[in-house]
Amino acid sequence: MVPVRCLAITILLLISLGALAAQENPSAGLALTPPMGWNSWNKFGCNVSEDMIRSMADAMVKSGMKDAGYQYVNIDDCWQVSRDAKGNVVADPQRFPHGMKAVGDYIHSLGLKFGVYSDAGSKTCAGRPGGLGHEYQDALRYAAWGVDYLKYDWCNTSTQDAKASYANIRAALDASGRPIVLSICEWGKASPWLWGKEVGGNLWRTTDDISDRWSGHPKWPDGSCCANSVLSILDQQVGIQSYAGPGHWNDPDMLEVGNGGMTGTEYRAHFSLWAMLAAPLIAGNDLRNMTPEIHDILTNKEVVAVDQDPLGREGERVAKNGDLEVWAKQMQDGSRAVILLNRGESQQNITVNWRDLGYPEHLSAVVRDLWEHKDLGKFTGSFSAAVVPHGVVMTSIKP
Ligand code: GLA
Repeated sequence: MVPVRCLAITILLLISLGALAAQENPSAGLALTPPMGWNSWNKFGCNVSEDMIRSMADAMVKSGMKDAGYQYVNIDDCWQVSRDAKGNVVADPQRFPHGMKAVGDYIHSLGLKFGVYSDAGSKTCAGRPGGLGHEYQDALRYAAWGVDYLKYDWCNTSTQDAKASYANIRAALDASGRPIVLSICEWGKASPWLWGKEVGGNLWRTTDDISDRWSGHPKWPDGSCCANSVLSILDQQVGIQSYAGPGHWNDPDMLEVGNGGMTGTEYRAHFSLWAMLAAPLIAGNDLRNMTPEIHDILTNKEVVAVDQDPLGREGERVAKNGDLEVWAKQMQDGSRAVILLNRGESQQNITVNWRDLGYPEHLSAVVRDLWEHKDLGKFTGSFSAAVVPHGVVMTSIKP
């Protein structure tokens, strides 16, 4: 009798300890695959409002984006205007007349999740109130509004220490008791891949801001450095892939797919490469007005599945010959997702060799085209395909 009672007590104790641990760390288990959603910044900048956000959430459902896996509806900079006498952050009463909780409630009523933006410094990048000194107060507000995701920027941080600042906001979010994804937006300045996981960040920006262009790294119109492109960001991911994994991802910035600055071929490549990088897939276009081509890119379930593979490996460049590159990502089922990328200006044949995938030469594997949605047959040792300029052929290679 006694041992049975002892066992029961031990089990109860373990259960309560487990519950206590979960209570202490509400963010455990978040973002086990890269977060998917939408964010207002790339298309709308400061032009955010309750009406627009509601209609975007509606469009996320109606367009099939929700079914394809997108869930976060994230309001970026400029929703906030001031702090009240008690220091509480105040949402723009003209643009958000029903307040932030009402927006969150609406997003949740559609089965989606709600994200907001703030900044670790005294002001956001657009000069709105930042979080510095108000971390715990803000976190409680966010929790009361039903916030599920916080993007935390790095403007106006003076001599603040990045790691300590992000650890502080994570502690504040956890103290609120609500599970909230923390998106570290520090632009890669202090190598956040080295400490982002340790401080409880779920994703961290690895570069300065993306812009809606295929290549180059030009100065911004105000002369400051430098507008990234798909290819300049891609190149900055080389060598940091081992820092990504379930719950903590490298973030090469939000998608520009559908914003008008690139061709359909380039947007398909952009989306494929972000999936290869196990990047957060945060759409940045107007979901209410998508062409069929853009819709089909963002909702290609075979490409999304590469991004969302539960093994959580980030893909890497395994071969490069001038403008011709091969990228590969190990998948949970032992297959590889492979991208043949042509950065050049004329059509080229690109070959992936099994040895670059860690496969023996004699292995026979089924190659499937993830954009054509068809099996191309069995190949041994290598596979080659013609790739259009600025384009990709994206395949799954499965022994
Ligand atoms: C920074 C961020 C962007 C965006 C703007 C908003 O530049 O990197 O993603 O959030 O601020 O002002």
